[in-house]
Amino acid sequence: MHGSDGVLNARFEDSILQYRCLLPHDCEALRAAHQALFPIDYEDAFYQAAVRAEQGIISIAAVYRNEYKEEQLAGFLTARVCCLRECNTTDRVLLGLNSSLVDGYNALYILTVGVLEPLRHCGVGSKLLAAILEQARERNCLSVFLHVIDYNAAAIAFYQRNCFQEIALLHDFYYIGSGRQLNPEQTRYNAYLYALPLEVPQTCPFKLWAPLHTLLFPLRRLLTRLYLWFLWTIWNPRRLRHTETLEKDDIELGLEPLARSQARLQS
Ligand SMILES: CC(C)(COP(=O)(O)OP(=O)(O)OC[C@H]1O[C@@H](n2cnc3c(N)ncnc32)[C@H](O)[C@@H]1OP(=O)(O)O)[C@@H](O)C(=O)NCCC(=O)NCCS
Repeated sequence: MHGSDGVLNARFEDSILQYRCLLPHDCEALRAAHQALFPIDYEDAFYQAAVRAEQGIISIAAVYRNEYKEEQLAGFLTARVCCLRECNTTDRVLLGLNSSLVDGYNALYILTVGVLEPLRHCGVGSKLLAAILEQARERNCLSVFLHVIDYNAAAIAFYQRNCFQEIALLHDFYYIGSGRQLNPEQTRYNAYLYALPLEVPQTCPFKLWAPLHTLLFPLRRLLTRLYLWFLWTIWNPRRLRHTETLEKDDIELGLEPLARSQARLQS
């Protein structure tokens, strides 16, 4: 049933998989899977936090038992619960949640999701996602969001299939120097911001205000862009001169705060 790499290579049956959170003994398998599946290098602290459910990280793992009855990691999803009050303003604006009414609520940021190659297209990724969405609802999250590198067509199709909406394209969002990126000569890559709004709990005052908020959202976004433009071109022109490579769209979308927020979430 297993190849020499210890991975299932026979016809896959979903029933053999079990879903649970990541545990400390998954750490090495999790690290190996990240190195195999992603171009980004993650720090050891991230794996340690993920398998110990520390720093607000929650996780789901899909595991199966091999012929020696040992547990093997087949897929994983890691995410961080963040309080909206502490979220970056640009993120909140883009998510349509920049209102003090929701300060006490949370959002869930998906850090990584992966399924080992032989087990793909069998619904494992979708089950991991469904399980984490369930946890997000239990934790009063109003939105689930993530960044995906713009050349990852499979992941983009996966999120779209699971009802996530494209919110923005962020230029040069990722810096990747691992050598595992699409083009080893290129280190800067664009990212899409995708999000899935969750149902607003009955107790949330935002629920009554939400329809109006949706109507006013384009206006608020325009005002935020104007504000960011003002900050970058008038308030802080010296800084702008030093970032000549930054594209106009990046400035409008507040790329820097978003990149900082991503770094903070992944640290
Ligand atoms: C993205 C990933 C997690 C999907 O896992 P999966 O278990 O294969 O996903 P599912 O079987 O649940 O697929 C659900 C839907 O997503 C879409 N999808 C998944 N993989 C796809 C692909 N390679 N091409 C096009 N669509 C795809 C399909 O619409 C699919 O539905 P269908 O099977 O009815 O056609 C997996 O491909 C993976 O691990 N990729 C490498 C790591 C990665 O890129 N992670 C995302 C980083 S942001």
